Amino acid sequence: MRVLHVAAELYPLVKTGGLADVLGALPGALAGLGVETRVLVPGYPAVMRALEGAVPVAREGDLFGGGARLLAGRAAGVPVPLYVLDCPSLFDRPGNPYLDADGRDWPDNHRRFGSLSWFAARLGQGADPAWRPHVVHAHDWQAGLAPAYLELAGGERPGTVLTVHNLAYQGLFPRETLVELRLPPWAFTYDRLEFHGKLGFLKGGLAYADRISTVSRTYAREIQGAEQGCGLDQLLRHRAGDLVGIVNGIDTGVWDPSTDPHLPAPYDAAAPGPKALSKAALQKAFGLEAVPEAPVFGVVSRLNVHKGLDLALAALPGLLRKGGQFVLLGNGDADLERGFAAVAGRHPREVGVRIGYDEALSHLIQGGSDVILVPSRSEPCGLTQLYALRYGALPLVRRAGGLADTVVDATAAAQRRGTATGFVFDAASPRALAAAIGRACRLYADRAAWAKVRKTAMTRDFGWPAAAREYLALYEGLLG
Ligand code: ADP
Ligand code: GLC
Repeated sequence: MRVLHVAAELYPLVKTGGLADVLGALPGALAGLGVETRVLVPGYPAVMRALEGAVPVAREGDLFGGGARLLAGRAAGVPVPLYVLDCPSLFDRPGNPYLDADGRDWPDNHRRFGSLSWFAARLGQGADPAWRPHVVHAHDWQAGLAPAYLELAGGERPGTVLTVHNLAYQGLFPRETLVELRLPPWAFTYDRLEFHGKLGFLKGGLAYADRISTVSRTYAREIQGAEQGCGLDQLLRHRAGDLVGIVNGIDTGVWDPSTDPHLPAPYDAAAPGPKALSKAALQKAFGLEAVPEAPVFGVVSRLNVHKGLDLALAALPGLLRKGGQFVLLGNGDADLERGFAAVAGRHPREVGVRIGYDEALSHLIQGGSDVILVPSRSEPCGLTQLYALRYGALPLVRRAGGLADTVVDATAAAQRRGTATGFVFDAASPRALAAAIGRACRLYADRAAWAKVRKTAMTRDFGWPAAAREYLALYEGLLG
């Protein structure tokens, strides 16, 4: 079976969040199951630089305003072959895949990602005679039009899957873009491409894909309700029979405390002792007081309201009163950036804040923290809590989406059963978060109990093979 994945991010070439991590690992895991897997990504500068042995396989003289080529090749660090959409007028520019240097959406994002979907459809129709996919698997709104283009073209086509990594990002554009993107005006209806008067890329994917998946079972249920449905819940309920939740795995090659080059000393579940060296290195990196006994709470996150970091900011004074330390790496919302920086300014020996994006530091935070906070209001899956489990930094999470599916609260009963792996709270309030922080501090003070929970966390299996088998079953069901 041949499966083409289509996405806007791909670790290690281009990453703003978990989408990149998934695309960096799932295709390789599928290949391990014998699925011939390739990935189509935009030709951002970093991708063009990494591409090796590029061979042109298709061309468009004038795609949405510029010439474009489809190249086939490989890149170091990417386990499967790549297709790259080489279109300098759309992708040869510095910075973020979605935003310009001032943090505004690129004004031609509809063309950038419309063209990605367009070429995905062309590959699905056999643009590369040497490799015609049985399934086109689109990820998130950026690839959402691929199933639509394929269906609207009529004739024989591959099966289509759309994976929703986050329903809150929908790719909405003015209705006038429809014609430019070569979409038929008759498809601009509420049950197809239209979302409240706009062209919806994700909406189109949800309407046209043969199967829909999302990245945890709980989120698959949540998005069928009004609260988390982002206006698409009715459509998702309508398509419930084609919708599955498959929890993400983690790349155990990239995220492994026993081989991680960003940690001062390796450790694992059998010999966790050297984690203390990571903690000391982390305290040093952030200029915190070198107290081994202080529980260190870490955050690695985009800073926004979905991630609930306003709750963490509000709960910070209480955390400090309990003798905890706090480190944060992230960027996003300007108020949150300023808020955290202000607390760090007042408590430089207990609170360290790094505004920005830093892959190496994100590993040290996982290695050196005792607890990783993920207080998200909504979280389709979440990967940082999975990395935290493996690194023995007990995740403290809100009961939402994939967080609920992957962390077992350290209640007395769960500790007795030996299943506890972290801390889970319910209400999205600073008070509920503070109570969970209090529970974490109390458990931390009981060294034996802490070590037991930590060992359970570190030995949980969140590798990709299990999730890849579920995707394979989805493809097999689709192809009959
Ligand atoms: P999301 O995709 O919603 O941002 P995930 O938990 O699925 O959330 O994935 C986030 C990914 O991005 C993780 O690999 C995390 O380590 C990484 N990450 C987030 N913020 C930063 C940052 N500021 N610096 C480095 N890595 C980051
Ligand atoms: C999205 C979600 C996150 C998920 C990631 C990978 O960015 O916000 O919860 O882990 O995609 O699927």
